[in-house]
Amino acid sequence: MFLQIQPRSLFLVVFLLVAAKASEAAGTIAPGSTLDASNANQAPWSSPSSTFSLGFISSGLPNSFIAAISYSGGVPIWKAGSTPVDSAASLQFLSSGALRLVNGSGSTVWDSGTAGKGVSSASLEDTGKLSLLRNETVVWSSFDNPTDTVVPSQNFTTGMVLQSGLYSFRLISSGNLTLRWNDSIVYFTQGLNSSYDVNMTSPSLGIQNIGILSIFDPSLSGGGIMAYSNDYAENRDTLRYLKLDDDGNLRIYSSDRGSGTPIPRWAAVEDQCEVFGYCGNMGICSYNDTGTICGCPSQNFELVDPKDSRKGCKRKVETVNCPGNPTMLDMQNTQFLTYPPETESQIFFVGISACRSNCLVNPSCDASTSLSDGTGLCYFKTPGFISGYQSPALPSSSYVKVCSPVDPNPSPNEQLTGKGGGWRIHPWVVAVVVIGTILGLVALEGSLWWWCCRNSPKFGVLSAHYALLEYASETRRQKFCVWAYEEFEKGNIKAILDQRLADQEVDMEQVVRAIKVSFWCIQEQPSHRPMMSKVVQMLEGITEIERPPAPKALTEGSNGSSMTVSSNISAFSTTAASVPAPSSSSSFQIAGVSVYASGKNIERASSSLLRSYPEGQSQF
Ligand SMILES: *[C@@H]1O[C@H](CO)[C@@H](O)[C@H](O)[C@H]1NC(C)=O
Ligand SMILES: *[C@@H]1O[C@H](CO)[C@@H](O)[C@H](O)[C@H]1NC(C)=O
Ligand SMILES: *[C@@H]1O[C@H](CO)[C@@H](O)[C@H](O)[C@H]1NC(C)=O
Ligand SMILES: *[C@@H]1O[C@H](CO)[C@@H](O)[C@H](O)[C@H]1NC(C)=O
Ligand SMILES: *[C@@H]1O[C@H](CO)[C@@H](O)[C@H](O)[C@H]1NC(C)=O
Ligand SMILES: *[C@@H]1O[C@H](CO)[C@@H](O)[C@H](O)[C@H]1NC(C)=O
Ligand SMILES: *[C@@H]1O[C@H](CO)[C@@H](O)[C@H](O)[C@H]1NC(C)=O
Ligand SMILES: *[C@@H]1O[C@H](CO)[C@@H](O)[C@H](O)[C@H]1NC(C)=O
Repeated sequence: MFLQIQPRSLFLVVFLLVAAKASEAAGTIAPGSTLDASNANQAPWSSPSSTFSLGFISSGLPNSFIAAISYSGGVPIWKAGSTPVDSAASLQFLSSGALRLVNGSGSTVWDSGTAGKGVSSASLEDTGKLSLLRNETVVWSSFDNPTDTVVPSQNFTTGMVLQSGLYSFRLISSGNLTLRWNDSIVYFTQGLNSSYDVNMTSPSLGIQNIGILSIFDPSLSGGGIMAYSNDYAENRDTLRYLKLDDDGNLRIYSSDRGSGTPIPRWAAVEDQCEVFGYCGNMGICSYNDTGTICGCPSQNFELVDPKDSRKGCKRKVETVNCPGNPTMLDMQNTQFLTYPPETESQIFFVGISACRSNCLVNPSCDASTSLSDGTGLCYFKTPGFISGYQSPALPSSSYVKVCSPVDPNPSPNEQLTGKGGGWRIHPWVVAVVVIGTILGLVALEGSLWWWCCRNSPKFGVLSAHYALLEYASETRRQKFCVWAYEEFEKGNIKAILDQRLADQEVDMEQVVRAIKVSFWCIQEQPSHRPMMSKVVQMLEGITEIERPPAPKALTEGSNGSSMTVSSNISAFSTTAASVPAPSSSSSFQIAGVSVYASGKNIERASSSLLRSYPEGQSQF
């Protein structure tokens, strides 16, 4: 008995499988069929050549699925419902004629709305079109109810909409493609170029599989070309489709059959930061080497969701609750995006400072942007949704109302070096200061040395290095130091100075300063020698220079003590000991002075950089 039943039931199972396969192969789905998200072994409903299939695919998150029509390889082109479902969900083609997505709790997540309309079959074609049919008539189709994608052979008309989060795409009656944020702000609109001079009556949009996006209209013979994908007409087994992404951009993608990998080939908005709301409310969009970054205007703000910077920012303290007065945060090279219909009654022709101060005193102004592009335009932003874009290429300045004090964002360098911790000076500023100081010193000491020894046949400008090496005699050095210090003591500065300079206009104050610094720098005791920064201040005349102590040789007598490496700098100037008497003719001197001057300029530049730095920090 047992053996008799089994072949029969086996036969039944095989028959059913073959029947099911046959219906799948025909691309038709029978009423009463169900697909379960949990059953990975269940074959999805497929188009006749299996180019497209309808079934559950992973949403990318664990235990989260989407019921979708997918292209070979798993690229979704249509989705049932806008939210992912759990593994207990099922897609049901009911005998009432409705196609329904039910989640694990039994709630209907999506429904085709075709119950009781005589629908008796469903089919999935090799174009990717899913149809619910009454006899041969299409009652409902995925092409007429697109989600976020348009594929070749799909006719996208003016009544249709692609939706992705708050973003939507429409073809408007003039034939323009438009992108909107929250159904209101139009951040992109583009029609056919001016070479097509037509007034359209019933435009529609289509994408050809070779990668051409076209507008069709009775007034346009053969259609007008809107865009080409950058792999246009490349001869491969590739699907090209138009998709509204969740970042608000409309793109043409190419996906090779079976690869499952879509590659973007064209984008409506070239500059992603121009997509309204891309970084959320009060979020500031900018670029680094790899792509966009979403950040907050300053540390007066914090991310709404620290795990997702695209969710925007919020004030740590609302301006109505400020303990003191609100103030304006200045953001250079920053613009708050302004698109229609936002602009009405928010545009003013005022100067930059008025754009800032008028907003500060206006209770209904939250932020302002002065375009600074020659238009004289100033935009006021009322509390609501504000979308920012920061780039060195933008001339605009923007202002945001915050509670004082303004707490600027750390500069990228500080973020790299860690917590910051009060270290607010760029390393390169330090480098410039040090190099400037050394240049100044070398030039100074070089010229001092030159005054004395340039007449010696033994020394040439180019032999300065050798002079340094040759220098060995402690006695000579001390002899020069003693002589120079004695002359200095007597106030006989001109004796130390080049004779030729004596009859030229020389700033004696500077010379005295330079000589004093030199004596400080050749102090035998390292602790007596001033710091580099001090030296610069002395040379600049910022710091008063005390009278230098006499050189060691003068106080202790010349007993030829050992020379340390640290006194090598002083060796430069004291090398001239071999030629104690100053004499005439030099060109190095002038060069030396100019080097010194430029060293000073570098120092000036860097100190002005230091001063302006806190202002620069207020930039985003
Ligand atoms: C099913 O959908 C309902 C309504 O959308 C929702 O409240 C419920 O949490 C969902 N259940 C599951 C398991 O996703
Ligand atoms: C399907 O077509 C047949 C013949 O064309 C017709 O008799 C039948 O009423 C149709 N069924 C429905 C539900 O329209
Ligand atoms: C698209 O559909 C509209 C309305 O159904 C129709 O008028 C138009 O001819 C179609 N366009 C193409 C290119 O099929
Ligand atoms: C989108 O617009 C609706 C009204 O049109 C509004 O209530 C909602 O707050 C807006 N969304 C955002 C994020 O501003
Ligand atoms: C259509 O797009 C063009 C740019 O291609 C633009 O100048 C025009 O204002 C747009 N028209 C509408 C109605 O949006
Ligand atoms: C307009 O578009 C057509 C087709 O894409 C192109 O051949 C033509 O050069 C364009 N004209 C202008 C002015 O851009
Ligand atoms: C389009 O319409 C405008 C005004 O409605 C008219 O001035 C223009 O001549 C029309 N263009 C064409 C090509 O018909
Ligand atoms: C650019 O920013 C992103 C997001 O903040 C980050 O992951 C990436 O490493 C940055 N790239 C560079 C080159 O800094």
